[in-house]
Amino acid sequence: MADIYIGLMSGTSADSIDCATLDLSSKDIKVLDCRNFKIPKDLRKDVIQSSQIEKIEKKLVDNLNYRMAEVLVEAVKQTIDELNIEAEDIKAIGSHGQTIKHEPMLEKPYTLQIGDPQKISNDLKIRTVGNFRHDDIKAGGEGAPITPVFHKRVFGEDKKKKVIVNIGGITNITALDHPEIIGFDTGPGNCLMDCWSRENNVGDYDDKGSWASSGIVNQPLLETMMKDDYFLRKYPKSTGPDYFNHKWIKDNISKLANKISPEDVQATLLQITVLSLIESIDLLNLSEETIYLCGGGVHNEFLFNQIAKQSKAKIKTTLDLGINPDYVEAICFAWLAKQRLENINFNLNKITGSKGEVYLGRIYEPSR
Ligand SMILES: Nc1ncnc2c1ncn2[C@@H]1O[C@H](COP(=O)(O)OP(=O)(O)O)[C@@H](O)[C@H]1O
Ligand SMILES: [Mg+2]
Repeated sequence: MADIYIGLMSGTSADSIDCATLDLSSKDIKVLDCRNFKIPKDLRKDVIQSSQIEKIEKKLVDNLNYRMAEVLVEAVKQTIDELNIEAEDIKAIGSHGQTIKHEPMLEKPYTLQIGDPQKISNDLKIRTVGNFRHDDIKAGGEGAPITPVFHKRVFGEDKKKKVIVNIGGITNITALDHPEIIGFDTGPGNCLMDCWSRENNVGDYDDKGSWASSGIVNQPLLETMMKDDYFLRKYPKSTGPDYFNHKWIKDNISKLANKISPEDVQATLLQITVLSLIESIDLLNLSEETIYLCGGGVHNEFLFNQIAKQSKAKIKTTLDLGINPDYVEAICFAWLAKQRLENINFNLNKITGSKGEVYLGRIYEPSR
């Protein structure tokens, strides 16, 4: 029987749940299936709202933890039903959970992903690995990004220098510069554009970036935004939409005297994503390399074209490396679940800043 692992990912965009089913019985990473599930509207609204609240009550966290786990359980049920797999054939689920808080810089740093892994494990009777970031934070790290270790495994075997950039809610970069890997969050990906689109009733996101392309970048706003401490900080660094959010946009706009049209703001927010990424590529001396993009940002045509136009690097997607750009992260968490079961630990010092070897994920056995 194959060693089947399922990876579940819902990124900071809270747009949907990505589910990847892998056969990891051999050394190869065999992707059997990838599919996507909607997050119910009311839950999505509560998730987005809670990520903007400064202090979340435990009661709300418990409620979200339960509801998100129910949705994740349903996603797995549907998947294994359609693929005709029995629950007992699945070695483990790797469930990232939905991040609602990521505060690695506090005196007492923490990160919070909802979607209770114990409930997933109990309801499905499938061992579940979750809370992937906790031990890294405990070891003094940022807890993010952790996908670079997977990028190295899946994209780095040929030992050729290359760069992987995931444009989700946040943008993270992995520089595969053998034997070293560097990875950090460069800044916002889609999160600011999504937020501004919602605020202006354009939709949950700016389809293909067409609204942004109808505006003109406002230079004073761009300069003000690019002065943000986050962009000036050196890696290791990580961030989330609890930082780059509605308040961040409003605070920056309020620093300027002139009124700026909503579409010009959108064009400027897109440019922030482009510029913070390109500056990071330059900082790492990678502008001569090929950049492979993944994450939902690849569907924003205007964003993609602007990155290609403004960067000296060659821009492709991970499809050119054989992996569907929409599912790199879900595939990663299935693979990480296997690493965890096999007690493989990682040194993420260069990436998250943590000290020593850390386990990524905690194992939740189904209760009897
Ligand atoms: N057709 C599209 N046009 C513009 N943006 C898109 C499109 N499709 C997806 N996106 C963007 O991708 C985001 C989801 O990307 P994803 O990689 O799933 O992010 P996360 O990991 O944060 O969930 C959406 O919120 C949206 O901003
Ligand atoms: Mg997503």
